[in-house]
Amino acid sequence: MFPLLFLIFLLHPKILITITEASRCTISTPLKTYEKCISLPTQGATLAWTYHAKNATLDLAFTGTFISPSGWVACGINPTSPSMTGTRALVAFSDPSTGSLMVLPFILDASVKLQSTPLVSRPLDISLLSSSVSSRSGIRDGDTIQIFFTIKLSPNRTRVNFVWNRGLYVQGYSPTIHPTAASDLA
Ligand SMILES: *[C@@H]1O[C@H](CO)[C@@H](O)[C@H](O)[C@H]1NC(C)=O
Ligand SMILES: *[C@@H]1O[C@H](CO)[C@@H](O)[C@H](O)[C@H]1NC(C)=O
Repeated sequence: MFPLLFLIFLLHPKILITITEASRCTISTPLKTYEKCISLPTQGATLAWTYHAKNATLDLAFTGTFISPSGWVACGINPTSPSMTGTRALVAFSDPSTGSLMVLPFILDASVKLQSTPLVSRPLDISLLSSSVSSRSGIRDGDTIQIFFTIKLSPNRTRVNFVWNRGLYVQGYSPTIHPTAASDLA
């Protein structure tokens, strides 16, 4: 009885998608251990975090995967809406001059959707206390990286939107558009 049930479970198409797309989240990272974690609904990404109410700081560790060696992996906070526009993002990619993994801040204002000018890194207008990126392997297609960051929240506004994505190509220091399949727009 049990082996038969198990087989049906694996063959059911919807469940199969869940198995391949969702990565199990973990609260422990090489840098620190967090209080909570969730498996994000797309791209096999996960998020671990701790909110310190005493000083209103939020520590985050995002795990995502590269889809190209010349690509980018990003995550960020949108203080006002659950969308790309308005997101204060940290984008990880290979430094074109040194080849090492780096992370830069970008403000995704309304012009980003128009793609009229390359995206240029600039300091975030939220209280970013620290940020770093690490990879256990490298920056090949399928390689997993972690973006760690700490932000200070207003004690009265501790609900934020978390946004993430990844793309195939970085032009100089400008990440270019992500794929536009439904799961990449989610
Ligand atoms: C905030 O508080 C936590 C827990 O007490 C502490 O570990 C952390 O270093 C503090 N962060 C800042 C920026 O003061
Ligand atoms: C939080 O809200 C309370 C009540 O509205 C207000 O008195 C307080 O000044 C606010 N604190 C901050 C840091 O905005």
